Amino acid sequence: MSNSSASPCNSAAIVRPWPGLIEAYRDLLPVTEATPRITLLEGNTPLVPSRHIGPSLGGKVDLYFKFEGLNPTGSFKDRGMTMAVSKAVERGVQHTMCASTGNTSASAAAYSARAGIQAVVLIPEGKIAFGKLSQALIHGARTIQVEGNFDQCLAIVREITDRYPIELLNSLNPMRMEGQKTAAFEVCDQLGRPPDIHILPVGNAGNITATWWGYLQYRETGRIADLPRMIGFQAAGAAPLVHGAPVAQPETVATAIRIGDPARWNDAMTAMTDSGGLVDAVTDEEILQAYQLLATREGVFVEPASAAPVAGLLKLAAADYFRDGPQTVVCTVTGHGLKDPDVAVGLLQQPERIPPQTDALARLLQL
Ligand code: F0G
Repeated sequence: MSNSSASPCNSAAIVRPWPGLIEAYRDLLPVTEATPRITLLEGNTPLVPSRHIGPSLGGKVDLYFKFEGLNPTGSFKDRGMTMAVSKAVERGVQHTMCASTGNTSASAAAYSARAGIQAVVLIPEGKIAFGKLSQALIHGARTIQVEGNFDQCLAIVREITDRYPIELLNSLNPMRMEGQKTAAFEVCDQLGRPPDIHILPVGNAGNITATWWGYLQYRETGRIADLPRMIGFQAAGAAPLVHGAPVAQPETVATAIRIGDPARWNDAMTAMTDSGGLVDAVTDEEILQAYQLLATREGVFVEPASAAPVAGLLKLAAADYFRDGPQTVVCTVTGHGLKDPDVAVGLLQQPERIPPQTDALARLLQL
């Protein structure tokens, strides 16, 4: 006789459901039992081994993609946002605000909606990807286009949140950084050790900083012994860290990192210097090549900014950076390709057309 009380899906007893990153890493984060968990079960993103790009580099690189586009709103921002919004709600905050090139606003809008509080987002007019704009709007954020760039939006947001009781949700918020550290924790947990090199795209410079702080914390708490080299790539038209000076009018196809005066400038430089890494730039052409390579050869669809670290990896390989033998390299691919479909469709030919007849398809395919 069958046991009627047994679950038809026994795997539930074996695979514990992911509780979201605050709960998963609560011992390493500044939370207590009293901290509300405003979560969409973000984190736990796959560390996808490279099938083509890594192996094409002649055995010098064991390459992985940390696929952050698989977070609930499609980017790594959800890691920081679950912490920042939870801690804000713990203090009774009712209003949130951020400046954004798109992903921060999408995530701030979603987590504020989840918490039942009101978000206001400032975005540079005409310069954010369509998918991201749709997210801010549908989650009910008050969405304000500014006739200026991201840096100007952020300057306004900093002043307003200084003056009024509104929670700043940009990566200047230390709780954003706390949450984003967990990407480094996960990479170590997934690999069973830290990588030798971790490469990220750099815009406002929060994520490379937070990722480094995550590795430092994992070492301090004895979970790892070594630290990776941190390498940042900016877009050539928006590369203030590479030039050592702000860029007044940043320009790049990778709108997510179209930033001329990053808020976490010094912290990011410290991360790259202390770890023995570097910062460099890749052109829009290199970004779009890597973007297509990821999609066509790896099956991984990312937004243009997320292809910058992969373009950077190829640039480093061409300069024989990996000559000292096999290195484990992780590239954080930060946002999903569906965020910015216009770039993908714009690059490619239109789909072919046939009348609704089987023969027509057979002829077209020369079968
Ligand atoms: N990749 C993506 C997809 C991003 O959206 C961003 C930043 C970055 C990389 C760079 O990360 O700023 O921490 O150096 N996007 C912010 C935003 C600026 O408003 O969505 P960073």
